[in-house]
Amino acid sequence: MKTDKIKINGLNFKNRLVVSPMCQYSSRNGCPSDWHYYHLRNLLETGAGSLVVETTSVSSIGRITKKDLCLYNNTHLREHKKLVKYLKKIRNVPILLQISHSGRKGSAEIPFVKKNSPLKKKDGWVTYAPSKIKRDKNWPLPAEMNSKQINNLINQFKNTSKLAFKAGYDGVEVHMAHGYLLHQFCSPISNKRIDKFGNNLQNYELHKNIIKSIKNILPKKKIIGARVTGSDNLPKGIKPKDCIKLLNILTKEGLNYACISSGGIIPKTKMKFYPGFRIKMAKYIKQNSSLLIRTSGLINNYVILKKAIKHLDFVAVGRKFINDKFFLLKNKKFKKLGNIPEQYYYCFN
Ligand SMILES: Cc1cc2nc3c(=O)[nH]c(=O)nc-3n(C[C@H](O)[C@H](O)[C@H](O)COP(=O)(O)O)c2cc1C
Repeated sequence: MKTDKIKINGLNFKNRLVVSPMCQYSSRNGCPSDWHYYHLRNLLETGAGSLVVETTSVSSIGRITKKDLCLYNNTHLREHKKLVKYLKKIRNVPILLQISHSGRKGSAEIPFVKKNSPLKKKDGWVTYAPSKIKRDKNWPLPAEMNSKQINNLINQFKNTSKLAFKAGYDGVEVHMAHGYLLHQFCSPISNKRIDKFGNNLQNYELHKNIIKSIKNILPKKKIIGARVTGSDNLPKGIKPKDCIKLLNILTKEGLNYACISSGGIIPKTKMKFYPGFRIKMAKYIKQNSSLLIRTSGLINNYVILKKAIKHLDFVAVGRKFINDKFFLLKNKKFKKLGNIPEQYYYCFN
Protein backbone atom coordinates (compact mmCIF):
# COMPACT_ATOMS: atom_id res chain seq x y z
CA MET A 1 0.00 0.00 0.00
CA LYS A 2 1.44 3.34 -1.07
CA THR A 3 0.88 5.43 2.04
CA ASP A 4 4.60 6.07 2.34
CA LYS A 5 6.33 9.43 2.52
CA ILE A 6 7.36 11.37 -0.55
CA LYS A 7 9.50 14.44 -1.21
CA ILE A 8 8.61 16.96 -3.93
CA ASN A 9 11.02 19.86 -4.60
CA GLY A 10 12.55 19.13 -1.20
CA LEU A 11 9.16 19.35 0.55
CA ASN A 12 8.41 16.29 2.71
CA PHE A 13 5.00 14.63 2.83
CA LYS A 14 4.57 12.13 5.67
CA ASN A 15 1.88 10.22 3.76
CA ARG A 16 -0.19 10.39 0.60
CA LEU A 17 -3.51 11.33 2.13
CA VAL A 18 -4.60 14.90 1.62
CA VAL A 19 -7.32 17.03 3.14
CA SER A 20 -9.32 18.23 0.14
CA PRO A 21 -9.93 21.99 -0.10
CA MET A 22 -13.35 22.96 1.23
CA CYS A 23 -14.75 26.49 0.97
CA GLN A 24 -16.31 27.72 4.18
CA TYR A 25 -17.73 31.06 2.98
CA SER A 26 -16.80 32.42 6.39
CA SER A 27 -14.11 35.03 5.82
CA ARG A 28 -13.93 38.40 7.53
CA ASN A 29 -13.41 40.91 4.68
CA GLY A 30 -11.53 38.22 2.75
CA CYS A 31 -9.34 37.27 5.76
CA PRO A 32 -9.43 33.99 7.71
CA SER A 33 -11.88 34.19 10.64
CA ASP A 34 -12.05 32.26 13.95
CA TRP A 35 -14.02 29.61 12.09
CA HIS A 36 -11.01 28.87 9.87
CA TYR A 37 -8.81 28.26 12.94
CA TYR A 38 -11.33 25.77 14.32
CA HIS A 39 -12.11 24.10 11.00
CA LEU A 40 -8.51 23.71 9.78
CA ARG A 41 -7.15 22.62 13.15
CA ASN A 42 -9.68 19.78 13.18
CA LEU A 43 -8.71 18.76 9.68
CA LEU A 44 -5.01 18.74 10.58
CA GLU A 45 -5.77 16.25 13.33
CA THR A 46 -7.19 13.67 10.91
CA GLY A 47 -3.80 12.09 10.21
CA ALA A 48 -3.63 13.27 6.57
CA GLY A 49 -0.11 14.06 5.40
CA SER A 50 -1.02 17.44 3.93
CA LEU A 51 -3.83 19.93 3.79
CA VAL A 52 -5.11 22.18 1.02
CA VAL A 53 -6.78 25.35 2.29
CA GLU A 54 -10.03 26.30 0.53
CA THR A 55 -10.16 28.18 -2.71
CA THR A 56 -8.91 31.73 -2.18
CA SER A 57 -9.53 34.55 -4.60
CA VAL A 58 -6.83 36.41 -6.51
CA SER A 59 -9.02 39.54 -6.80
CA SER A 60 -12.24 41.07 -5.59
CA ILE A 61 -14.24 40.12 -8.70
CA GLY A 62 -12.63 36.66 -8.59
CA ARG A 63 -14.60 35.79 -5.46
CA ILE A 64 -17.46 33.30 -5.68
CA THR A 65 -19.35 34.99 -2.84
CA LYS A 66 -18.78 37.99 -0.60
CA LYS A 67 -17.55 35.68 2.18
CA ASP A 68 -14.72 33.99 0.25
CA LEU A 69 -11.14 33.95 1.46
CA CYS A 70 -8.92 36.33 -0.52
CA LEU A 71 -5.19 36.96 -0.81
CA TYR A 72 -4.25 39.99 -2.83
CA ASN A 73 -3.35 42.74 -0.35
CA ASN A 74 -1.22 43.24 2.75
CA THR A 75 -4.12 42.87 5.20
CA HIS A 76 -4.94 39.47 3.72
CA LEU A 77 -1.23 38.59 3.85
CA ARG A 78 -0.93 39.50 7.55
CA GLU A 79 -3.97 37.39 8.48
CA HIS A 80 -2.99 34.37 6.37
CA LYS A 81 0.48 34.50 7.94
CA LYS A 82 -1.06 34.31 11.44
CA LEU A 83 -3.23 31.37 10.40
CA VAL A 84 -0.35 29.39 8.88
CA LYS A 85 1.82 30.02 11.96
CA TYR A 86 -0.97 28.68 14.19
CA LEU A 87 -1.62 25.61 12.03
CA LYS A 88 2.06 24.71 11.73
CA LYS A 89 2.26 24.57 15.54
CA ILE A 90 -0.65 22.13 15.63
CA ARG A 91 0.92 19.76 13.13
CA ASN A 92 3.86 20.50 10.90
CA VAL A 93 2.75 19.04 7.57
CA PRO A 94 2.68 20.73 4.16
CA ILE A 95 -0.14 23.26 3.94
CA LEU A 96 -1.04 24.47 0.48
CA LEU A 97 -3.35 27.26 -0.59
CA GLN A 98 -5.78 26.74 -3.44
CA ILE A 99 -6.06 29.92 -5.53
CA SER A 100 -8.73 30.84 -8.00
CA HIS A 101 -10.91 33.27 -9.94
CA SER A 102 -14.60 32.45 -10.20
CA GLY A 103 -15.29 34.12 -13.59
CA ARG A 104 -18.95 33.72 -14.58
CA LYS A 105 -19.63 31.58 -11.48
CA GLY A 106 -18.92 34.55 -9.21
CA SER A 107 -21.20 37.17 -7.66
CA ALA A 108 -23.14 34.31 -6.11
CA GLU A 109 -25.17 33.75 -2.98
CA ILE A 110 -23.46 31.74 -0.22
CA PRO A 111 -24.54 28.16 -1.02
CA PHE A 112 -25.83 27.42 2.48
CA VAL A 113 -27.97 30.57 2.25
CA LYS A 114 -29.26 29.92 -1.30
CA LYS A 115 -27.86 27.18 -3.51
CA ASN A 116 -26.76 27.80 -7.12
CA SER A 117 -28.05 31.38 -7.25
CA PRO A 118 -26.47 34.59 -8.46
CA LEU A 119 -26.69 37.68 -6.25
CA LYS A 120 -29.31 40.27 -7.21
CA LYS A 121 -27.87 42.79 -9.70
CA LYS A 122 -27.79 45.61 -7.11
CA ASP A 123 -25.87 43.46 -4.61
CA GLY A 124 -23.38 41.80 -6.93
CA TRP A 125 -20.70 42.66 -9.49
CA VAL A 126 -20.13 42.25 -13.23
CA THR A 127 -18.61 38.85 -13.96
CA TYR A 128 -16.09 37.99 -16.67
CA ALA A 129 -15.57 34.90 -18.79
CA PRO A 130 -13.75 33.80 -21.95
CA SER A 131 -16.97 34.21 -23.97
CA LYS A 132 -20.34 35.83 -23.44
CA ILE A 133 -22.09 32.63 -22.42
CA LYS A 134 -24.27 32.26 -19.32
CA ARG A 135 -23.60 29.54 -16.78
CA ASP A 136 -27.31 28.69 -16.77
CA LYS A 137 -30.67 30.30 -17.53
CA ASN A 138 -30.94 32.15 -14.23
CA TRP A 139 -27.33 33.40 -14.28
CA PRO A 140 -26.27 36.78 -15.71
CA LEU A 141 -24.45 37.17 -19.02
CA PRO A 142 -20.73 37.59 -18.28
CA ALA A 143 -18.55 40.16 -20.08
CA GLU A 144 -15.96 38.73 -22.47
CA MET A 145 -12.39 39.28 -21.25
CA ASN A 146 -10.03 41.18 -23.54
CA SER A 147 -6.35 40.30 -23.86
CA LYS A 148 -5.29 43.10 -21.50
CA GLN A 149 -7.61 41.71 -18.81
CA ILE A 150 -6.28 38.20 -19.45
CA ASN A 151 -2.68 39.36 -19.04
CA ASN A 152 -3.72 41.12 -15.85
CA LEU A 153 -5.25 37.85 -14.63
CA ILE A 154 -1.90 36.07 -15.11
CA ASN A 155 -0.29 38.74 -12.92
CA GLN A 156 -2.99 38.35 -10.28
CA PHE A 157 -2.30 34.60 -9.99
CA LYS A 158 1.41 35.37 -9.75
CA ASN A 159 0.86 38.06 -7.11
CA THR A 160 -1.38 35.84 -4.95
CA SER A 161 1.17 33.02 -5.21
CA LYS A 162 3.95 35.37 -4.10
CA LEU A 163 1.85 36.42 -1.09
CA ALA A 164 0.98 32.79 -0.33
CA PHE A 165 4.68 31.86 -0.21
CA LYS A 166 5.36 34.90 2.00
CA ALA A 167 2.52 33.86 4.33
CA GLY A 168 4.26 30.52 4.84
CA TYR A 169 2.15 28.21 2.67
CA ASP A 170 4.21 25.35 1.24
CA GLY A 171 2.67 25.66 -2.18
CA VAL A 172 -0.22 26.83 -4.26
CA GLU A 173 -2.85 24.79 -6.03
CA VAL A 174 -4.25 26.64 -9.05
CA HIS A 175 -7.96 25.94 -9.41
CA MET A 176 -8.70 25.06 -13.03
CA ALA A 177 -11.85 23.01 -12.34
CA HIS A 178 -15.40 23.15 -10.91
CA GLY A 179 -16.69 25.69 -13.43
CA TYR A 180 -14.46 28.56 -12.32
CA LEU A 181 -12.68 30.93 -14.71
CA LEU A 182 -9.68 28.75 -15.64
CA HIS A 183 -12.04 25.82 -16.24
CA GLN A 184 -14.18 28.15 -18.38
CA PHE A 185 -11.08 28.81 -20.51
CA CYS A 186 -10.38 25.03 -20.84
CA SER A 187 -13.87 23.91 -21.77
CA PRO A 188 -15.40 24.07 -25.29
CA ILE A 189 -18.75 24.59 -23.53
CA SER A 190 -17.74 28.04 -22.24
CA ASN A 191 -14.83 29.11 -24.47
CA LYS A 192 -15.70 30.00 -28.08
CA ARG A 193 -12.80 32.42 -28.61
CA ILE A 194 -10.78 32.30 -31.77
CA ASP A 195 -7.74 34.25 -30.49
CA LYS A 196 -4.72 32.60 -28.82
CA PHE A 197 -6.74 32.15 -25.61
CA GLY A 198 -9.38 30.07 -27.40
CA ASN A 199 -9.04 26.33 -27.02
CA ASN A 200 -9.57 25.08 -30.55
CA LEU A 201 -5.81 24.60 -30.90
CA GLN A 202 -5.54 23.24 -27.35
CA ASN A 203 -2.35 25.10 -26.58
CA TYR A 204 -3.76 26.36 -23.26
CA GLU A 205 -1.93 29.68 -23.51
CA LEU A 206 -3.52 31.16 -20.36
CA HIS A 207 -2.95 28.13 -18.13
CA LYS A 208 0.59 27.72 -19.44
CA ASN A 209 1.45 31.33 -18.65
CA ILE A 210 -0.03 31.19 -15.17
CA ILE A 211 2.06 28.14 -14.22
CA LYS A 212 5.14 29.64 -15.90
CA SER A 213 4.78 32.93 -14.01
CA ILE A 214 4.41 31.11 -10.66
CA LYS A 215 7.35 28.84 -11.45
CA ASN A 216 9.48 31.97 -12.02
CA ILE A 217 8.95 33.09 -8.43
CA LEU A 218 8.79 29.67 -6.76
CA PRO A 219 10.98 29.57 -3.63
CA LYS A 220 12.94 26.45 -2.68
CA LYS A 221 10.96 23.65 -1.02
CA LYS A 222 7.64 24.97 -2.34
CA ILE A 223 5.42 23.36 -4.95
CA ILE A 224 2.80 24.16 -7.59
CA GLY A 225 -0.27 22.03 -8.19
CA ALA A 226 -3.46 22.36 -10.19
CA ARG A 227 -6.98 21.08 -9.81
CA VAL A 228 -8.13 20.15 -13.30
CA THR A 229 -11.14 18.68 -15.08
CA GLY A 230 -10.82 15.15 -16.40
CA SER A 231 -14.34 15.26 -17.83
CA ASP A 232 -17.14 17.81 -18.18
CA ASN A 233 -19.57 14.86 -18.32
CA LEU A 234 -21.19 16.50 -21.34
CA PRO A 235 -21.09 15.24 -24.95
CA LYS A 236 -19.26 18.34 -26.22
CA GLY A 237 -17.23 18.98 -23.12
CA ILE A 238 -13.73 18.17 -21.86
CA LYS A 239 -12.69 14.50 -22.15
CA PRO A 240 -9.79 12.74 -20.36
CA LYS A 241 -7.62 13.03 -23.50
CA ASP A 242 -8.00 16.86 -23.39
CA CYS A 243 -6.96 16.83 -19.75
CA ILE A 244 -3.87 14.76 -20.60
CA LYS A 245 -2.95 17.31 -23.27
CA LEU A 246 -3.28 20.17 -20.79
CA LEU A 247 -1.23 18.34 -18.16
CA ASN A 248 1.56 17.49 -20.57
CA ILE A 249 1.84 21.20 -21.43
CA LEU A 250 1.77 22.30 -17.78
CA THR A 251 4.33 19.67 -16.75
CA LYS A 252 6.85 21.37 -19.04
CA GLU A 253 6.16 24.68 -17.29
CA GLY A 254 6.95 23.27 -13.84
CA LEU A 255 3.67 21.91 -12.47
CA ASN A 256 4.36 19.35 -9.73
CA TYR A 257 1.02 17.57 -9.36
CA ALA A 258 -2.57 17.59 -10.56
CA CYS A 259 -5.78 16.70 -8.80
CA ILE A 260 -8.25 15.20 -11.27
CA SER A 261 -11.78 16.44 -10.78
CA SER A 262 -14.86 16.54 -12.99
CA GLY A 263 -18.13 18.34 -13.64
CA GLY A 264 -19.20 21.84 -12.70
CA ILE A 265 -19.06 23.76 -15.98
CA ILE A 266 -22.87 23.99 -15.83
CA PRO A 267 -24.99 23.20 -12.78
CA LYS A 268 -26.43 19.88 -14.00
CA THR A 269 -24.55 17.16 -15.87
CA LYS A 270 -24.79 13.38 -16.20
CA MET A 271 -22.09 12.86 -13.55
CA LYS A 272 -22.77 9.77 -11.41
CA PHE A 273 -21.70 9.77 -7.77
CA TYR A 274 -20.60 6.55 -6.04
CA PRO A 275 -17.63 5.72 -3.77
CA GLY A 276 -14.40 6.46 -5.61
CA PHE A 277 -16.21 7.59 -8.78
CA ARG A 278 -13.15 9.40 -10.19
CA ILE A 279 -10.47 6.78 -9.48
CA LYS A 280 -10.68 5.00 -12.86
CA MET A 281 -10.44 8.25 -14.82
CA ALA A 282 -7.59 9.56 -12.67
CA LYS A 283 -5.72 6.26 -13.12
CA TYR A 284 -6.08 6.51 -16.91
CA ILE A 285 -4.81 10.10 -16.87
CA LYS A 286 -1.89 9.09 -14.65
CA GLN A 287 -0.91 6.35 -17.10
CA ASN A 288 -0.64 9.02 -19.82
CA SER A 289 1.15 11.72 -17.88
CA SER A 290 4.42 12.03 -15.99
CA LEU A 291 2.86 14.12 -13.21
CA LEU A 292 2.01 13.05 -9.68
CA ILE A 293 -1.75 12.50 -9.70
CA ARG A 294 -4.37 12.89 -6.98
CA THR A 295 -8.12 12.57 -7.01
CA SER A 296 -11.10 12.86 -4.69
CA GLY A 297 -14.77 11.95 -4.74
CA LEU A 298 -16.53 9.89 -2.10
CA ILE A 299 -13.36 8.13 -0.99
CA ASN A 300 -15.02 7.46 2.31
CA ASN A 301 -14.41 3.83 3.31
CA TYR A 302 -11.24 1.79 3.83
CA VAL A 303 -11.75 -0.49 0.83
CA ILE A 304 -12.07 2.38 -1.62
CA LEU A 305 -9.29 4.29 0.09
CA LYS A 306 -6.86 1.40 -0.36
CA LYS A 307 -7.87 1.06 -4.00
CA ALA A 308 -7.24 4.76 -4.65
CA ILE A 309 -3.87 4.67 -2.89
CA LYS A 310 -2.81 1.67 -4.95
CA HIS A 311 -3.41 3.40 -8.27
CA LEU A 312 -2.62 7.06 -7.58
CA ASP A 313 0.08 9.19 -5.98
CA PHE A 314 -2.18 11.15 -3.62
CA VAL A 315 -5.73 10.67 -2.40
CA ALA A 316 -7.87 13.56 -1.16
CA VAL A 317 -10.67 13.18 1.35
CA GLY A 318 -13.15 15.95 2.05
CA ARG A 319 -16.49 15.42 3.74
CA LYS A 320 -15.55 12.20 5.54
CA PHE A 321 -12.80 14.05 7.44
CA ILE A 322 -15.41 16.58 8.56
CA ASN A 323 -18.20 14.22 9.58
CA ASP A 324 -15.86 11.60 11.09
CA LYS A 325 -12.60 13.32 11.98
CA PHE A 326 -10.86 10.21 13.33
CA PHE A 327 -12.02 7.98 10.47
CA LEU A 328 -8.41 7.15 9.48
CA LEU A 329 -7.00 6.80 12.95
CA LYS A 330 -9.74 4.37 14.02
CA ASN A 331 -8.39 1.82 11.53
CA LYS A 332 -5.39 -0.30 12.58
CA LYS A 333 -3.67 0.07 9.20
CA PHE A 334 -3.92 3.84 9.13
CA LYS A 335 -3.60 4.57 12.85
CA LYS A 336 0.15 5.11 12.66
CA LEU A 337 -0.32 7.92 10.10
CA GLY A 338 -1.52 10.42 12.64
CA ASN A 339 -0.14 11.63 15.88
CA ILE A 340 -2.85 10.80 18.32
CA PRO A 341 -2.24 12.89 21.46
CA GLU A 342 -0.90 10.84 24.40
CA GLN A 343 -3.96 11.82 26.40
CA TYR A 344 -6.21 10.25 23.73
CA TYR A 345 -4.12 7.24 22.75
CA TYR A 346 -5.93 4.63 24.82
CA CYS A 347 -9.25 5.71 23.35
CA PHE A 348 -8.11 4.24 20.04
CA ASN A 349 -7.27 0.71 21.16
C1 LIG B 1 -18.28 22.22 1.73
C2 LIG B 1 -17.42 21.92 0.53
C3 LIG B 1 -16.60 22.92 0.02
C4 LIG B 1 -15.76 22.65 -1.07
N1 LIG B 1 -14.88 23.62 -1.51
C5 LIG B 1 -13.96 23.30 -2.44
C6 LIG B 1 -12.91 24.21 -2.75
O1 LIG B 1 -12.74 25.26 -2.14
N2 LIG B 1 -12.07 23.86 -3.74
C7 LIG B 1 -12.16 22.66 -4.40
O2 LIG B 1 -11.36 22.40 -5.30
N3 LIG B 1 -13.11 21.77 -4.07
C8 LIG B 1 -13.98 22.05 -3.11
N4 LIG B 1 -14.89 21.12 -2.73
C9 LIG B 1 -14.81 19.76 -3.28
C10 LIG B 1 -13.96 18.89 -2.35
O3 LIG B 1 -12.62 19.31 -2.32
C11 LIG B 1 -13.98 17.41 -2.78
O4 LIG B 1 -13.37 17.27 -4.02
C12 LIG B 1 -15.40 16.86 -2.88
O5 LIG B 1 -16.14 17.16 -1.71
C13 LIG B 1 -15.39 15.35 -3.10
O6 LIG B 1 -14.66 14.69 -2.11
P1 LIG B 1 -15.38 14.03 -0.81
O7 LIG B 1 -16.43 13.10 -1.34
O8 LIG B 1 -14.24 13.33 -0.11
O9 LIG B 1 -15.97 15.14 -0.01
C14 LIG B 1 -15.76 21.37 -1.68
C15 LIG B 1 -16.63 20.39 -1.18
C16 LIG B 1 -17.43 20.65 -0.07
C17 LIG B 1 -18.30 19.55 0.46
